[in-house]
Amino acid sequence: MSSTSGSLRPSVLVARAVFDDVVARLAAHFEVETNPDDRIFSPAELSERLRGKAGAFITGSERIDAPLLDAHPQLRAVCNMAVGYNNIDVEACRQRGVIATNTPDVLTETTADFGFALMMAAARRIAESEHFLRRGEWTKWRYDLFAGSDVHGATLGILGMGRIGRGVAQRGALGFGMKVLYHNRSRLDPALEAPLGARWVDKDTLLREADHLVIVVPYSPSSHHAVGERELSLMKPTATLTNIARGGVVDDAALARALRAGRIAAAGLDVFEGEPAVHRDLLTVPNVVLTPHIASATVATRRAMANLAADNLIAALGFGPQAGRPPTPIPAPSAPSR
Ligand code: GLV
Repeated sequence: MSSTSGSLRPSVLVARAVFDDVVARLAAHFEVETNPDDRIFSPAELSERLRGKAGAFITGSERIDAPLLDAHPQLRAVCNMAVGYNNIDVEACRQRGVIATNTPDVLTETTADFGFALMMAAARRIAESEHFLRRGEWTKWRYDLFAGSDVHGATLGILGMGRIGRGVAQRGALGFGMKVLYHNRSRLDPALEAPLGARWVDKDTLLREADHLVIVVPYSPSSHHAVGERELSLMKPTATLTNIARGGVVDDAALARALRAGRIAAAGLDVFEGEPAVHRDLLTVPNVVLTPHIASATVATRRAMANLAADNLIAALGFGPQAGRPPTPIPAPSAPSR
């Protein structure tokens, strides 16, 4: 589908491949330009494609910044198919009256499932032992073969106690009898802490006491390398680190050094600085489980995210039952984290 000049219907860009039926929902209201080859547009190409568009359905791979918005004063809405929105300059959008939306809630439980799975895989050395088996190196049972660390009853440390962090905490506390510590810029309401037995601690205490650290803090300049050389040096040598937040929150080079030196036991990473490139030292250390940014990737959840991004775009441009009231606008900067 491509834009039809002269049409009174607004034109929108769907910047990446997405479910056909979701595109069809947009096409009921708009002239829709898609990206059937699913190429990642360069900034110049994205700008070219946005020409004449009133709205854009985007993902984390499209960067929306002030120069781009200035080049497209007709653009009224940018709707991200992701809960994280570090690809969008939200303040620049606000200043220009451009509605920016994300997809919270619909991915919370799926992402928490994955974070827990990655943490367990790191603690119990699942990927590392599978690679050993596939290489044909398994010749005998041994008392210490891939002995890892327990998850049940251990101390779970959560950095970034938004919805997903609370989902991970819930799994740990209620399913695995874990003690839950967390660090967040604001403390949870005691009514949310109590059922999880969750206790706020300062960041260094979290790092020192966690047996399993799970990072769920959104990326921003203030969370850049929130876990680097110094922070890693505070962790227990038996601890694991799991990052399901964003690349850049962890200093990947420092993490690779810590893993190789055995300064922490293992890591599970779904996100990377500069992804889809992965720091080459992470590719060669054995004690890390690496996945390609798939924490929210179940079919049901990806469909829910796509439909929510479409709902937002339809409503933001004044159509549908929620015209003018997109369901999930990106919150003002002081609102709680994801
Ligand atoms: C995925 O990383 C998301 O932000 O939804």
